[in-house]
Amino acid sequence: QGRFVVLASGRGSNFQAIIDRVHDGYINAECSGLITDNPDAYAIKRAHNAGIPAEVVPYRNFPDKIQYENALMEVLARYNPDLVVLAGYMRLLGERIVDAYTGKMMNIHPSLLPAFQGLHAQRQALTYGTKVAGCTVHFVTHDMDAGPVIIQRTVPVLDDDDEETLADRILVEEHQAYAEAIKLFFEKRLRIEGRRVRILPDS
Ligand code: GAR
Repeated sequence: QGRFVVLASGRGSNFQAIIDRVHDGYINAECSGLITDNPDAYAIKRAHNAGIPAEVVPYRNFPDKIQYENALMEVLARYNPDLVVLAGYMRLLGERIVDAYTGKMMNIHPSLLPAFQGLHAQRQALTYGTKVAGCTVHFVTHDMDAGPVIIQRTVPVLDDDDEETLADRILVEEHQAYAEAIKLFFEKRLRIEGRRVRILPDS
């Protein structure tokens, strides 16, 4: 059976949605650990409740980013995952880690990429005034929020939306999209062809 680890920095609602879909059998793989850079992340509590080991690699305790990433690499290597899932992990990963998991690391971003990369994507959509918004699950490459797209889901932007109402509407789609992407990965149905990801039919 395949194994994955999740990296999350905060609330961890995507992490929760993913492990729920492991438990109900939709995703045929094991979540072997949660890793966080933030000792106060609520995701840690969710891991404990689910009986999943949680590891804190506290970014602030390291003298620099290189040493932080070396420690993170070691923890990751110990799990030896088939897939690394970034779920609200709010740091840019360095080259070494990204290289070590090429085609084996996914991220979710709350916009329809390539629009609104970086922080506060939902606010960026409201500021721009788009009429649709959404989320993107993609493979991670060296460029932030720019790897091959696996799944996108859209939602309408409503006239009275604020950042929170729009983010909540997108989040519902995030939870479904992420579970689906991970399911497809472990069914070996994702084939990266340059910038494009082909989704192979269910066999
Ligand atoms: C999610 O909306 C995710 O898409 C976003 O952070 C939130 C984490 O929520 N990620 C980014 O903005 C990455 N740049 P969660 O902790 O409840 O899953």
